Amino acid sequence: MSIRLNVIVACCEGGGIGINGELPWRLRKEMQHFSRLTRRVGTQEQQSAVVMGRKTWVSIPEKFRPLPHRLNYVLTTSKGSVFPGAEACNSLEDAIERYGHSAAGGTLWAIGGHSIYEAALKSPFLYRVYVTRVHASITCDTFLPPLPPGLTPVSDSDVSTEQQLEGDITYHYEVLQSSGDAASAAAAE
Ligand SMILES: NC(=O)c1ccc[n+]([C@@H]2O[C@H](COP(=O)([O-])OP(=O)(O)OC[C@H]3O[C@@H](n4cnc5c(N)ncnc54)[C@H](OP(=O)(O)O)[C@@H]3O)[C@@H](O)[C@H]2O)c1
Repeated sequence: MSIRLNVIVACCEGGGIGINGELPWRLRKEMQHFSRLTRRVGTQEQQSAVVMGRKTWVSIPEKFRPLPHRLNYVLTTSKGSVFPGAEACNSLEDAIERYGHSAAGGTLWAIGGHSIYEAALKSPFLYRVYVTRVHASITCDTFLPPLPPGLTPVSDSDVSTEQQLEGDITYHYEVLQSSGDAASAAAAE
């Protein structure tokens, strides 16, 4: 199963990612960056997929979910939960397995929140981490777990290396690659 698991996250100084069940900022272009990357189809032309926690699903306005042009997986511990247009899963491994059955190869994006990032960052399928670093200290109640050691900065032609400005907020993008098995398999392709 040649699934690549990528993490994509925007965090502010101190690692904050959310407040009161919502994003702590409104960054329209940053959202477009998220949308463009997570829709991207790889060489095997498989539809990509996103996996998120139930609270992140709820945080997406109903009219925007499921996220279009991507398979959507939602993690929950409640049996029988229904997420219209998405598949309910009971673990990240469950989502990886389901995506593996539906796509011979492809990219599964872990899009939050905290515990989904935590599981993805430990996964042997982890390939890359796409981080938007927001240059501001903003009050948050949800945080990105520490990134594991051994991630190396890499370039991605779809990701700008320039500092970004929206309103009065500046931010920049980082792309980090795992040194684990998923990255070795990708390099061998
Ligand atoms: N800045 C960013 O890039 C970013 C990205 C995503 C989200 N966010 C923000 O983060 C916040 C939401 O994140 P969160 O950490 O509070 O919640 P979350 O991870 O989105 O959802 C938590 C829920 O997911 C389910 N879950 C989590 N891990 C699971 C597992 N291993 N197995 C089965 N189910 C599991 C559980 O649902 P049940 O309770 O149903 O069992 C749990 O209560 C919001 O503020 C959102 O706006 C920010």
